Amino acid sequence: MSKLIIANWKMNPSSESEAIRLAKASDAKGVVICPPSIFLNQIHSILKIADLGAQDVFWENPIPGGAFTGEVSISMLKKSGASHVILGHSERRRYLNETDEIINKKLLSALAFELKVILCIGEPISIKKEGILAAKNFVKKQLLKSLAGIENLKTQAKNLILTYEPVWAISAGLGTGHADTPENAAAMINYIKELLVTRYSLSVNKVIYGGSVTSANVARILEYKEIEGALVGSASLKAEEFKKIIKISSQIQ
Ligand code: 13P
Repeated sequence: MSKLIIANWKMNPSSESEAIRLAKASDAKGVVICPPSIFLNQIHSILKIADLGAQDVFWENPIPGGAFTGEVSISMLKKSGASHVILGHSERRRYLNETDEIINKKLLSALAFELKVILCIGEPISIKKEGILAAKNFVKKQLLKSLAGIENLKTQAKNLILTYEPVWAISAGLGTGHADTPENAAAMINYIKELLVTRYSLSVNKVIYGGSVTSANVARILEYKEIEGALVGSASLKAEEFKKIIKISSQIQ
């Protein structure tokens, strides 16, 4: 099965022209580009191959609109060409106080309206220091809370992409600033897959890894067949670097 590469641009770049340049350079098969929502329409109009994703969405989806200051609805995202949405990113958990309960509401709503969800889970450095068992327990709790009620949406599991993204491995984070070892990432991903099957009999679209993925380590990471793709942050903002990542990934089955 081919690997999936998702670019999370976070709050970058600073101009529309730079966003367009970057999107054109990143437009390839097996890629999802997630720019800030203000650039979605424009990027949608130039993408020919890659899919488009948002970095967040609100849980209520009133049509045509509602009184939710600052929020963007699922229908608005879909109209702007987005097929995917990132939910549960650790930066939103940390800076916006997003809880598993909030993430769960967003996830159920997005799936119900057939938006593909890229759900991020992963432990902080304090838990990592306690060892793999603590990390597994932490991730299990996040997963079960975020997926509460998924039983009623089983047919939508094909629209769910799970990302194991340990907080300590994110380049801009408060942890080690380096990627997880491929062995550990694979072990955690196997654990997540096992949980999905035993708890929900759920077979999701993909389970991928995020955290300091670069052209230098992506091959070693994706060579593990259980790691079905990568969520890329800072390296997705450098056109040449991201192209290398896409190329390497396309050569691995
Ligand atoms: P980096 O690739 O910069 O570590 O960011 C990872 C990330 O947060 C993607 O969602």
